Amino acid sequence: MIEVVHTIKEVRETVKGWRKEGLSVGFVPTMGFLHEGHKSLIDKAVEQNDRVVVSVFVNPMQFGPTEDLDKYPRDLAADTRLCEAAGANLIFNPEPSEMYAEGFCSFVDMNGPTSELCGKSRPTHFRGVCTVVNKLFNIVQPDRSYFGQKDAQQLSVIRRMVKDLNIPVEVVPCPTVREADGLAKSSRNTYLNPQERQAALILSRAIKLGQRCVEMGERDAHNVVKAMKELIATEPMARIDYVEAVDLDSVQKVDKVEGDVLFAMAVYIGKTRLIDNFIVNIK
Ligand code: PAF
Repeated sequence: MIEVVHTIKEVRETVKGWRKEGLSVGFVPTMGFLHEGHKSLIDKAVEQNDRVVVSVFVNPMQFGPTEDLDKYPRDLAADTRLCEAAGANLIFNPEPSEMYAEGFCSFVDMNGPTSELCGKSRPTHFRGVCTVVNKLFNIVQPDRSYFGQKDAQQLSVIRRMVKDLNIPVEVVPCPTVREADGLAKSSRNTYLNPQERQAALILSRAIKLGQRCVEMGERDAHNVVKAMKELIATEPMARIDYVEAVDLDSVQKVDKVEGDVLFAMAVYIGKTRLIDNFIVNIK
């Protein structure tokens, strides 16, 4: 039976017990409302570790003042069922006051990889992500932690943080999980009405088009981005926040498609902001 705990002390005690038995620990940080994408992270963690912790915490620090913190979907009972069925052992579901005690004033900030893409449109977002992930790593002290490629910039940022701050955790990337029609799984897909859900397919269509351009030999990153933008513009319900080509590690803009290049986009469908991406490796 999976255990659900709400305090840092309880997590520490449980993990300490496992460590005494010499067991390895995998960790999947989430904001809950779990779907198949999260399940694939938990599956991988269960496969690679003796015990698995999943955190379910809608982190206020990574939301801007006009963003969807209050309406972000929550369903701990369903999350618990999914985690239990997937074979996780512990859910950490803290209150914001447990994570951010009164007087909290220490942050993990990063330049470089946070300056483009979502970092531009959501200027305080990655400070919140880095701070909470660092705290969660300190609380759980896992051997490995699992992150989805759908949040490709987040993954590059976490990798950089782990390297720069010598955090003893192996970061394991996991592929994006999609609906049958191509839409990347996301808790925010629940905001879409049926017409918007249909319009949202423009993101995965733009990705397929971008991939095809590169496959056919296009090496000017701007031309690939232009083709993707033009396609997205044909969908009346879509409004582009950004479509960019960046180096996968540094997350800085590139002109040429060479090495590891991340093509990333954020697109509003109605009021819902969706992100998606693809990565190419050109020798
Ligand atoms: O990807 C997410 O769901 C969040 O950004 C994370 C990593 C759980 C931090 O709150």
